[in-house]
Amino acid sequence: MLTQASKVNANKVFSLARHYRAVRRRTEVLCEPLSAEDYNLQSMPEASPVKWHLAHTTWFFETMILSAMSDYRVFHPQYTYLFNSYYESIGERLNRSDRGLLSHPRIEEIYKYREYVDTYILHFLEAEAHHLSGNILTAMDTGLHHEMQHQELILTDLKHAFAANPLKPAYKSMDYDASDEIPAMRWHEYPEGVYWIGHDEEKEEFAYDNEKPSHRRFSNTFRLASRLVTNREFVAFMEEGAYARPEFWLSDGWKLVQEKKWHAPLYWENLGGKWWTMTLGGLREVEKNEPVCHVSFYEADAFARWWGFRLPTETEWEIAAKTVKPEGNFAESGRFHPAHVKSLAFTNSPSQLYGDVWEWTSSAYSPYPGYKPPQGMLGEYNAKFMSSQMVLRGGSCVTPKEQIRHSYRNFFSPDSRWQFSGIRLAGYL
Ligand SMILES: [Fe+2]
Repeated sequence: MLTQASKVNANKVFSLARHYRAVRRRTEVLCEPLSAEDYNLQSMPEASPVKWHLAHTTWFFETMILSAMSDYRVFHPQYTYLFNSYYESIGERLNRSDRGLLSHPRIEEIYKYREYVDTYILHFLEAEAHHLSGNILTAMDTGLHHEMQHQELILTDLKHAFAANPLKPAYKSMDYDASDEIPAMRWHEYPEGVYWIGHDEEKEEFAYDNEKPSHRRFSNTFRLASRLVTNREFVAFMEEGAYARPEFWLSDGWKLVQEKKWHAPLYWENLGGKWWTMTLGGLREVEKNEPVCHVSFYEADAFARWWGFRLPTETEWEIAAKTVKPEGNFAESGRFHPAHVKSLAFTNSPSQLYGDVWEWTSSAYSPYPGYKPPQGMLGEYNAKFMSSQMVLRGGSCVTPKEQIRHSYRNFFSPDSRWQFSGIRLAGYL
């Protein structure tokens, strides 16, 4: 007879199995518009081919969950070498820049690999439903959230590859609504005080190790912009000589502007005197009221300085976001592009905090006080990247909604532009 505790555990496992099927399926649905040629594109070392993403997420489950089972046989003995991303504790691996050379294994083989691992995982969950340990549950949850991160990367990396093609192909055809009018930028004020920051461990929802432990931070009085910075506002910055005036830039940023000849956000092209940009629906004219996107931390910081403001710290962002439901223009909208603010009314809290674009903060990505990386392979997931990166918050139009919480910390190097990254202003009072 089942004890009450094991029944609860079994229910959790059954819903985990349902969740697993749904998340894995979502990845494959994202690939439906793709041709065989699309699957293998790698436009730069930081971006991976779709085929690699499909296999790597599968390898993650195989390595974290199945490899510990005595009767499990790996699908292919060389796949760890091909599809290990950065786990030193697992062993040597293919150079990141060589992922686009993998014409073999074929796409069909990768889908067979996914099916093989799915069958074992679901069988394992069913067989172990009454005995599953907390560690395995955490590993499964991490694998699913990891797969969601790669769903976002599939779209982000494809956009970069398609933008590099002179034909500017579309991932799929899309209609984008425009707007003549959006609200003026206004300000929300937050009082000074001590605030709890990070993941509340009393909550059952999933969180990565880098969101923990929950801790207190003092914040001075600050104000946060009521909406994101738009393309129109960024064009105004450009027209005032943004990329030609060193006084707006951090030293490293100014060096990059000159070296890389940056003159506009990534993907922007001036055609016949008008700005056009690449979208997942193909090349289209820049819509002035949409949030500016594909800017580096340096561009975000320079813009803020030009306008007499600054970027928020991640603490400030979280103080504001904690009181707002994580709803917005996420991947589920199918738009895959930032959208203009829909309502002209001034609301109680800032608009667009979640979805649309990842918001650069002025905070360096570092451990929270008392942070301890997890044991084993998962200890390498976040902890070893805690240098030379800046924190971004809030998710974007290609982020699955389920992935985002007020405490979620994304991080990229300050020169990165291929993520869907944009700008929210902050200021002192
Ligand atoms: Fe990964």
